[in-house]
Amino acid sequence: MALGLLWLGLTLLGVLEIQAQDSTPDLIAAPHLRKVPLQPNFQEDQFQGKWYVVGLAGNAIRKEDQGQLTMYATTYELKEDHSYNVTSTLLRNGSCTHWIRTFVRSTRPGQFELGSIKRYPGVQNYRVRVMATDYNQYAMVFFKKTFKKKNYFKITLYGRTKELSLELKENFTRLAKSLGLSDDHIVFSVPIDQCIDN
Ligand SMILES: *[C@@H]1O[C@H](CO)[C@@H](O)[C@H](O)[C@H]1NC(C)=O
Ligand SMILES: *[C@@H]1O[C@H](CO)[C@@H](O)[C@H](O)[C@H]1NC(C)=O
Ligand SMILES: *[C@@H]1O[C@H](CO)[C@@H](O)[C@H](O)[C@H]1NC(C)=O
Repeated sequence: MALGLLWLGLTLLGVLEIQAQDSTPDLIAAPHLRKVPLQPNFQEDQFQGKWYVVGLAGNAIRKEDQGQLTMYATTYELKEDHSYNVTSTLLRNGSCTHWIRTFVRSTRPGQFELGSIKRYPGVQNYRVRVMATDYNQYAMVFFKKTFKKKNYFKITLYGRTKELSLELKENFTRLAKSLGLSDDHIVFSVPIDQCIDN
């Protein structure tokens, strides 16, 4: 794997959280999957395409340390075996970086696991669950991973557009809080034009 890609993979999966881990040894406990809503009757084809990451909340996200979160985009493409190619595009250090991974369909529609997990050192478990979506406007997605024996979780507020209504953002905040996160663990991203527009 190219070093840049590896680095980026580590950033998204780990480094940010390793730093958080040093300063916050006590992570808010990740909710059991049973407690996390699942979008009923999930439509895998309609969920495809590009989503802007409008909001992010998680037990390793700290508004204080994080500063501003630059908006990034994540694109889901269905493969023949019903898993998704998932590509995130981020502006890093003035250039566009892509990070590609596979989400493999799990037993329940709307629930996925990270494919080829052995390629990600330290990651023991990685689950994804689409909590709610209307497919053409917003989605809220839950991610939970065990990394070096610690349990991390986050939820993303995805938008088909860079701006979402106040009501959706409030609903996202409420959902994050229902999973045990406080305001300090919830951030909204700053829209940009570079990298994520095409
Ligand atoms: C998924 O990603 C791989 C690696 O980038 C690529 O080779 C493949 O064509 C993609 N498949 C689809 C269906 O997009
Ligand atoms: C950004 O670029 C500078 C100079 O090329 C480099 O020293 C630094 O490590 C890079 N930062 C990241 C986060 O890649
Ligand atoms: C926000 O949440 C409320 C209560 O769950 C729901 O009735 C409403 O439809 C949600 N709004 C949007 C835009 O999804």
